[in-house]
Amino acid sequence: MKTLLVYYSRTGNTRKIANTISESIECDIEEIVEKDKRKGIIGYLKSGYQASRGKAEHIEDSKYKISNYDLLIIGTPVWAGKMSVPVRTYLKKNMNKIPLLACFCTTNRSGIENTIEDMGNYVNTTPLASFGVKSSDIKNGTYKNIIEKFALEVI
Ligand SMILES: Cc1cc2nc3c(=O)[nH]c(=O)nc-3n(C[C@H](O)[C@H](O)[C@H](O)COP(=O)(O)O)c2cc1C
Repeated sequence: MKTLLVYYSRTGNTRKIANTISESIECDIEEIVEKDKRKGIIGYLKSGYQASRGKAEHIEDSKYKISNYDLLIIGTPVWAGKMSVPVRTYLKKNMNKIPLLACFCTTNRSGIENTIEDMGNYVNTTPLASFGVKSSDIKNGTYKNIIEKFALEVI
């Protein structure tokens, strides 16, 4: 299955998970980039506000064309119990082009189920596979087992 892995990361957790997935699954990988880097407390508060209201903002053009792939794996940090704004924007831009979908999220501790559901519902698709990783899973290394299991489900 030709696979594209797309993710957004503000502080590096989702990037770490995406890079680890790309070591187990043959795929093209792309980070969603925004002009606004959402730095500091203002960036944090704005992000939470926008995510809770389901807003979409400007993102840079993608390097890879989604219509060339059989499977999209999309990864987001949990923001206020939902997907992040840049990931919502990416899905909005590609709404009618989504092939099979698999998704993941990273969080401090809450919002995994809601966020996975948010992504699937937004594009009207039931994900083929999904998972969430907490900060504690990253610290203690459990995330590697979670990713191994996920890789088996999507290969
Ligand atoms: C605006 C904002 C809202 C967040 N909301 C939640 C939340 O509802 N629950 C939670 O456990 N963590 C929340 N977090 C923490 C992030 O989900 C977590 O640190 C994530 O792993 C960050 O990923 P990143 O490093 O790839 O940006 C929030 C972080 C931000 C910036």
